[in-house]
Amino acid sequence: MAVPEYVIEQIRNSNDIVSVISEHIILKKTGANHKAICPFHKEKTPSFVVSPEKQIFHCFGCGEGGNVFSFIMKYENISFFEALKKLADRAGIVLPEDAVSKQQDKSRDEKKLLYEINRCAADYYKECLQNSPSAKIAREYVKKRKLTRQIIDKFDIGYAPSTSCEMLKLIKEKGYSKELFKKAGLMVFSEKSGKWIDKFYNRIMFPITDNEGRVIAFGARAFDDAVPKYLNSPDTPLFNKSKVLYGLNLAKKPIREKSRMIVVEGYMDVMTAHQYGFENTVATLGTALTEEHARIIPRYTEKVSIVYDSDAAGVNATLRGIGVLLDTNLSVTVSVFPDGSDPDSFLHSRGSDEFFKRIENGMEIVDYKIKIASDGVDINTTGGKISVASQVLPFLERLKNEIYQEEGIKKLSGAIKIPAHVLKEELKRSRKSRPALKSRFEKINRQNIAELKLENNLVLILLKYPELAPIIFDEKKLPVDEFNNNNLSIIMSVILQLHEQAKPVEAKNIMNLVCSRYEKDESILEEINKTVSSLYLAKIEYRNPEKTARILIDDYNAVKSKKKYDELKKAVVMSLVNGDRKKSKEFVEQYKLIKGTHN
Ligand code: UTP
Ligand code: MN
Repeated sequence: MAVPEYVIEQIRNSNDIVSVISEHIILKKTGANHKAICPFHKEKTPSFVVSPEKQIFHCFGCGEGGNVFSFIMKYENISFFEALKKLADRAGIVLPEDAVSKQQDKSRDEKKLLYEINRCAADYYKECLQNSPSAKIAREYVKKRKLTRQIIDKFDIGYAPSTSCEMLKLIKEKGYSKELFKKAGLMVFSEKSGKWIDKFYNRIMFPITDNEGRVIAFGARAFDDAVPKYLNSPDTPLFNKSKVLYGLNLAKKPIREKSRMIVVEGYMDVMTAHQYGFENTVATLGTALTEEHARIIPRYTEKVSIVYDSDAAGVNATLRGIGVLLDTNLSVTVSVFPDGSDPDSFLHSRGSDEFFKRIENGMEIVDYKIKIASDGVDINTTGGKISVASQVLPFLERLKNEIYQEEGIKKLSGAIKIPAHVLKEELKRSRKSRPALKSRFEKINRQNIAELKLENNLVLILLKYPELAPIIFDEKKLPVDEFNNNNLSIIMSVILQLHEQAKPVEAKNIMNLVCSRYEKDESILEEINKTVSSLYLAKIEYRNPEKTARILIDDYNAVKSKKKYDELKKAVVMSLVNGDRKKSKEFVEQYKLIKGTHN
């Protein structure tokens, strides 16, 4: 444990959740709690609740929740440790020296150095573009691409000179190691020549930043037809291409203000869009939108406009991106541009009004899918109709929202002139064609859902009535480590730990323990705090909690033993099928032992 639990607790105790949150958003007192419009999703009526008594918050709209650390982490998009430091500062608490130095362990130290090195390189490249005599060609190129002075500054555009030993100079000057430059993706060791050389040379440099504006990687464009056109940093401890949205740090505020994110394909598109006033634009770097992107977007907006190149690659990337977004609640439109153009060239030739119109009048994804599917197909022929339907129906099947699905069927029906009820039948039939798979899943699901409900209710009742802990743990000996749901199992084990240490089972103690256990694994921390806050603020009363707890545990044990019984039964059959006599005998013995309780 890097930061001792008591320190985390002290910092939490010194930062009242109501006063911290009210420094960021407007809270309104209602009864014992405070309410607000949730800062993490768009809403009109407040469903964001802060409980001063329990020192937690929870949004019943989007499910965000946790303690004061969770709020700051989420609101400022920073790590647990950074939130801890911030709140320590706010309360005037100095973190113990060894906690800080232990926290800044090797990997953290190294990351810090990598950020420094990247910044240093970015500054160097920028300086070269501005002042180096050898950068004339680069300055001309930038001019030719119509990149203005403001944009060059805003995006820190630079130039990597044509010699390939510039980084060595930097190393000498600043005293970093070559290994670190290699780790940052800025240098490579050539086995052939036995020399260290720069990864990037004779290219225009576009620094890629993270959410806080720290440089994490580079995209480097060649001037001429050199291949590849863009050379990008490899994946490093700081950079993962499929998670980054280029320009997000600059675009995040405008995205929130305009309630829309424009997603384009490349560096040039982002810069030109910003130049023309579309500062809510970001790019996926030459890939389609990934699931990781889909998780980031809802933090800023629920409306996404995809504006990819109009070439075949752009269309494919659009379709793939839409596929990823189907499973979300985001509202997505696609704007199409004339053949051969991308947002960069379109803006320069047609201007911002035309661009704005195309964003505003973006196609809904179903329309786009139908358009692409019917491209080059004669929909007056039976073959054409079948071809379009067979591409669009599976797509409709994946739509999360039934209203969208219904609308989609109407649209498809209009496009290929086939009655909607026929298409609906077809959709049903295509669902039924995988029944075996589905019913198996359904069975597993039903069993798991029963188990999950019980696990959930057990945690819930313990949180509401901590005085039941002796009954649940000591008397009934609930098998906590057999919990199926990971979050609930962690919460249970934390409660058990508190119980064993004779500490009060309270929201703040639970979250403190969770924070100190999982400070390194923020996704778990986030998930668990969300679950805890939602359970705490759930409006449920039990008339006889003790009786309910006993019944819950008995039910839970019954479900568990039924599951074991089913598994054994299956194991017996399998070992017989495989002709493994020894095994099957063993299983049969075990089976006999518990058979009496089941049929
Ligand atoms: P484009 O080829 O459309 O480039 O690739 P662009 O951004 O429009 O640039 P210009 O206008 O031709 O100069 C779109 C994105 O795909 C990635 C880059 O992120 C690029 O911005 N890409 C493309 C690469 O990573 N490598 C390449 O060789 C090409
Ligand atoms: Mn392009």
